[in-house]
Amino acid sequence: MFLSQFILFLSPSLMRKDLPRTVIPQHYVLSLDAGLDSFSGSVTIHLNAEEPVTTFKFNSEGLKLSGLKIVKDSDSKPGTTIQASTKEEVDFVTVNLENAIQGKFTLQVNFSAEYSTSLEGFYSSKYNGDPMFSTHFEPADARKAFPCFDQPDMKATFDIEIRVPAGYIALSNEKEIERKEEGEKVLFRFARTPVMSTYIVAYVVGKLGYVEEKGRIPIRVYAHESEKEWGRFALSIAVKTLEFYEKYFDQEYPLSKLDMVAIPSFAAGAMENWGLVTYRKTSLLFDANTTSTQSKKNIAMTVAHELAHMWFGNLVTMKWWDDLWLNEGFATWAAALAIAESCQTELEWDVWTSFVSDEIEKGMSMDGRRSTHSVGSVVDEPVEVNQKFDAISYSKGSSIIKMVQNWMGADTFKKGLIGYIKKFKYGNAVTGDLWACLTEAAEAAGQAVDVAAVVGPWVSRPGFPYISITETEDTIELVQKRFTIGYESEGDEPWPIPIRILWMGKEPESKSYLMDKETLSIKKEYPLYKLNDEVSGFYRTMYPEKQNERLIQYNGLSTSNVMNTIADIFALSRALHAKIQTAVGLVDYLDQETNYEILSLAISWLSYFRSLFYDNKAKYDYFHSKLLGMIKERFESIKIEKKDAPTDINTIMLDSLVVGRAVYLRFEPAIERLRGVKREDLNPEYLRSYFMARVDQDFKSVFSVYQTSTRPGEKQSALVALGSTQVEENVDFLFKSLEVVEPQDSIYLFMSLSMNISFRNKAAMLFIENFERIRKHIGNAGLVRYSIESMLSAIYEEEFKVKVKGFLESLKDDREMKSAMDKCNDELVIGEKIRAEYNSVNLD
Ligand code: BES
Ligand code: ZN
Repeated sequence: MFLSQFILFLSPSLMRKDLPRTVIPQHYVLSLDAGLDSFSGSVTIHLNAEEPVTTFKFNSEGLKLSGLKIVKDSDSKPGTTIQASTKEEVDFVTVNLENAIQGKFTLQVNFSAEYSTSLEGFYSSKYNGDPMFSTHFEPADARKAFPCFDQPDMKATFDIEIRVPAGYIALSNEKEIERKEEGEKVLFRFARTPVMSTYIVAYVVGKLGYVEEKGRIPIRVYAHESEKEWGRFALSIAVKTLEFYEKYFDQEYPLSKLDMVAIPSFAAGAMENWGLVTYRKTSLLFDANTTSTQSKKNIAMTVAHELAHMWFGNLVTMKWWDDLWLNEGFATWAAALAIAESCQTELEWDVWTSFVSDEIEKGMSMDGRRSTHSVGSVVDEPVEVNQKFDAISYSKGSSIIKMVQNWMGADTFKKGLIGYIKKFKYGNAVTGDLWACLTEAAEAAGQAVDVAAVVGPWVSRPGFPYISITETEDTIELVQKRFTIGYESEGDEPWPIPIRILWMGKEPESKSYLMDKETLSIKKEYPLYKLNDEVSGFYRTMYPEKQNERLIQYNGLSTSNVMNTIADIFALSRALHAKIQTAVGLVDYLDQETNYEILSLAISWLSYFRSLFYDNKAKYDYFHSKLLGMIKERFESIKIEKKDAPTDINTIMLDSLVVGRAVYLRFEPAIERLRGVKREDLNPEYLRSYFMARVDQDFKSVFSVYQTSTRPGEKQSALVALGSTQVEENVDFLFKSLEVVEPQDSIYLFMSLSMNISFRNKAAMLFIENFERIRKHIGNAGLVRYSIESMLSAIYEEEFKVKVKGFLESLKDDREMKSAMDKCNDELVIGEKIRAEYNSVNLD
């Protein structure tokens, strides 16, 4: 007890697996030879020791090392070699020197290894049959590709050269400065990089073409020669957002070029390597014949997100992974800003409205669970860091940034950011540094705000509040409590909540308040009011009875405000603070609604409950018919042919939602219509629905579309459709053929199978039985976690649930799978509670 308190008090540094700062890298000369089967190379790292040292460590994992040499720099060359012995451990090497060394010296070492098979480090893949080799280092896999000081605060410059087989090209962070044939090989040399962290170093080798636009610097999208034209859309977003960020941050992009590359096998969506951003094909390539508008939005968001990292992350970097949210939360927020402000010609999209469901709701949904953690939680080693790339860092993180911006005002906030970038560029920062720069900007603007005091707790503490309201004659009385779902929490301090209330008088007026205690009494300006105006804060609201109905019926409530009202009441019902019937009752007011975002949100909540009661006919039917009621008529008026395609983005998205749901709900007229249309006449927005409607008629041919298509939208749609089959033998076949599904794609299949109500239990059992095989095939831990989360978090029928719980229990000591196991367990408990509560309640 005492000891653990003591450790907590002193953490993180006691437990942190990092390198001592006695020896600091300044420059790397990295020479690589990328063969077809394996790679090798040598690195010279220029180091500096402030104080004399006799021992130091560097990172290296799975590399065969040879010829290690330590050479003391001296002005009169050649340098002197210092005798050294080494000791290798799992991911680092200790060097022991015969004599103490101080000042500048170099470490030289040769290395070789097989390409990785887990989509991390330096790994191989195939692009339309051609071998391709690329890197993914974040958070801690540079050490698998070359010996280095692999942590974000050990920044250095890099000179990189790569030898590749003739016929291949090589790309790296900086521009090419030399290309030389050397027999069977070609040598590529690249310009020196700015000072940077190892996790954003990158190189790619392949047979690739590109499309290019030249602004202040050349920007290119690389893909297979036959697919490069699909890069145009991402290219236009890159041009616009890069220019936007340069202005917004008042700081030029510091490299001489920007390349973005499609990598056919890719674990994440994209990776912000400085100057050489890598992408999953679906997140970069837009093919007008098969890409949906949803995917187009995803491409735009992803490009904007990665380019935001060129400043937030690459230029200014978190000191340690505890502050990962400074990278990810910030980039998520900035991407929305950049698209809203600079890409409306490319994509007419109300991004901030989507932000409500994509980030705020997602963040709250995770943050209410028992297994949540604080945005700035302590992580000591790579296995933990990897599991921090989650909805807390991204979604809660970005929502909090939005909250601060709303609270301080956009101008002051921006000035604070500019100050932060100027002060920490080419260096590292912690969360407190950002608060200090924002406070400084506020002071300069004459605002008396203490940013750390108000915002600090949102980052340092897990969870978030809900505010319940009671009314008196002339006041509204607010009480805040922590919002938890599936468990009780006690002893939480109140959060300092910046509140905005929209008072609906003749002219609606938005007013700000700060609630820094458990209760707050506010003068009632008008009988009708909306808390959390424009969802400017990260909290939920529980209104007095009837207020929700009155809000929904109020004409002129903005889309975000309607979404927030619906989401809060559904979330409160899920947490058993309100009745499901009250939430569902609100949806009845959406009869005439035509807004995609609002309907999409309502439909996903109804679908959640439908799915939760999948084995309870009466309740299942209740939600099923509610959903059908929402889509039936809407479907009738939709035309699915290309020639009748709507043009405004709201209608495009709404129609696609309706058609997709109609098929998912097995609404016969929809299935028939999609079976009747010719593929060449079909509006590609409905491609997934098209395959879903046909999969049971012609399973083999949908399967072969998945196997043979190179078009990212088509391939993914076919796979999702396969998982929606209503024929049992097909499910068996899919599990027999798992190795045919590429590791990076398997998550789409599992997601689809988990949504397949008819075979969800069966698929979960097959998943468990085949888990070791699946894990081996997928290889990448992040993708395996994702698969577990989809497959095993909604199994409630007793005989299957027992097996799922047993399986999760068996993963108890598997640290790599911890977050997935926690999430499943939380979901199962939440679902059980709701099912028990409503067991004897008739919903109709
Ligand atoms: N830095 C991440 C990539 C990453 C993810 C590295 C997980 C290591 C582990 C990148 O900037 C990112 O956030 N990518 C997102 C896409 C984005 C649009 C949210 C992704 O990969 O999902
Ligand atoms: Zn990111």
